[in-house]
Amino acid sequence: MANAIVKEAWTGRLGVILAVAGSAVGLGNFLRFPGLAAKYGSGAFMIAYFTSLLVLGISICWAEWTLGRYAGQKGFHSSPGIFHVLIRHPMGKFIGVLGVIIPVVIYMYYVYIEAWVAGYAYYFLFTDKLSLGGDVAAYKNFWVKFIGAHENGFLLSDGGEVIWFLLAVFILNFIIIYRGLAKGIEFFCRWAMPALVLLALVVLGRVLTLGTPNPDLPEQSLINGLGFMWNPGHVGEQLLNPELWLAAAGQIFFSLSVGFGVIITYASYLTDKDDVVLSGLTASAANEFCEVALGGMITVPAAFVFLGAAGLAGQGTFGLGFQVLPLVFSEMPVGWLFGGMFFFLLFLAAITSSLSMLQPGIAFLEEGLGLNRKQAVALLGLLTAIGCLFVVYFSKDIKALDTIDFWVGTVCIFLMATVIILYFGWIMGIERGWREAHKGAEIRIPGFFRFIIRYLSPLYLITIFALFVLFNVFGWNPQTGAFTPTSYVSDLVGEHPDEVARMSIALIVLIIAFFVILIGQAGKRWDGLAADQAKGGGP
Ligand code: ALA
Repeated sequence: MANAIVKEAWTGRLGVILAVAGSAVGLGNFLRFPGLAAKYGSGAFMIAYFTSLLVLGISICWAEWTLGRYAGQKGFHSSPGIFHVLIRHPMGKFIGVLGVIIPVVIYMYYVYIEAWVAGYAYYFLFTDKLSLGGDVAAYKNFWVKFIGAHENGFLLSDGGEVIWFLLAVFILNFIIIYRGLAKGIEFFCRWAMPALVLLALVVLGRVLTLGTPNPDLPEQSLINGLGFMWNPGHVGEQLLNPELWLAAAGQIFFSLSVGFGVIITYASYLTDKDDVVLSGLTASAANEFCEVALGGMITVPAAFVFLGAAGLAGQGTFGLGFQVLPLVFSEMPVGWLFGGMFFFLLFLAAITSSLSMLQPGIAFLEEGLGLNRKQAVALLGLLTAIGCLFVVYFSKDIKALDTIDFWVGTVCIFLMATVIILYFGWIMGIERGWREAHKGAEIRIPGFFRFIIRYLSPLYLITIFALFVLFNVFGWNPQTGAFTPTSYVSDLVGEHPDEVARMSIALIVLIIAFFVILIGQAGKRWDGLAADQAKGGGP
């Protein structure tokens, strides 16, 4: 028994589902997904997306729920503790380091983006700062200045208003997390999730009644906007593009918060009597509804009817969210209200996700080092504040944010997801895993998922990961067969390295080293507690 300082539990089934859905539904649903749908602009992306959902998303999600609950009943709630239980080897707990550093490090930049959306909501509702006319360049300019993408250390020179939003959302996150699992996270998600869905439905209603705002451009109609996302296009040809599959799989992980170390922690507060199969499926379904039916259907058609296919192309996630959409809202009647609602719902989505990124770290500091809640919150607050200030200071071209997102928010997530699916399918063994998953379950997982989890998911994952390394790290060009390392590599070891990229990697390495040392300490503590317990003197 880990002698966790504070005994935590969810108050009910709906609470845990809303908390997991809250973790899943986030900026990924309303910004990242529409950005990708716009970039690939066809039904082909949706095919790759739903395949990844079935083969990777749902399978790994069930594995995480099951493994988390299993270890949680043995008294462990953090990823190192969970792997300490799962892999009965002195090195086992170190494998769990990924499940702490992924959420903690992602939080460091995610909370900064959360501050942007809070700022945009405020500007729409209470100022006219975002009434910048019909030229997207003006919105780009505004965003670049607001977040400091024009120069490093901008907070110390011009601008800097974003820092107040950052302070506010940063503190709010820690106040909620300090209140604990049930009184903090669950309580907040219980009202934030329905509220954000309601707001999204209102904004969707507005978008679906936009018709053809510019009669001179009849092709820019709502129907064509919807078709832009769903029409098959040149499916056959596009499905041969590995990048499309990489993007779809990466989106599934990011969006479902799978491979983050979050779901195993959240599920560890459940017992054998609680269902994980239906709950996992419900939380994933809620995420998909918010992503495809709300995020995609609001953003892509709205941008399409005002700017057309050409205006959507090449925008990327931030371009679409912070440049195109503000323009779209400014151009529509009562746009200040719809813009304000949209960015406020985005803020709610973001904060329910960022909270979930803090709980794994808090759980580890409490059960690993024996800290109480106040100490754990203070230490994690300090650590994430340092990382966040690093991202904010080195804001030029969002280099630090982008580098950290690539190595931790993508590469590490792939690795963690691989560890989880291999453990569930092969080390725990599919039959035992199956029995564990079905304890307390209200529905049964269809039998063919045995095959998917054991063979298809690992194969798919490893293939996608190999392609990912080939394309996004080594820069392989299938046409010429040449390798031209991408900026992620050349920034680090090329002839002209980028100092900020290098420092970002150094920061990641330092954080990993810090947690590895703490995990070593935690291991000693857990072994000591187990020895006490064996002697009959334990807690
Ligand atoms: N799952 C969270 C999101 O989609 C991280 O933003």
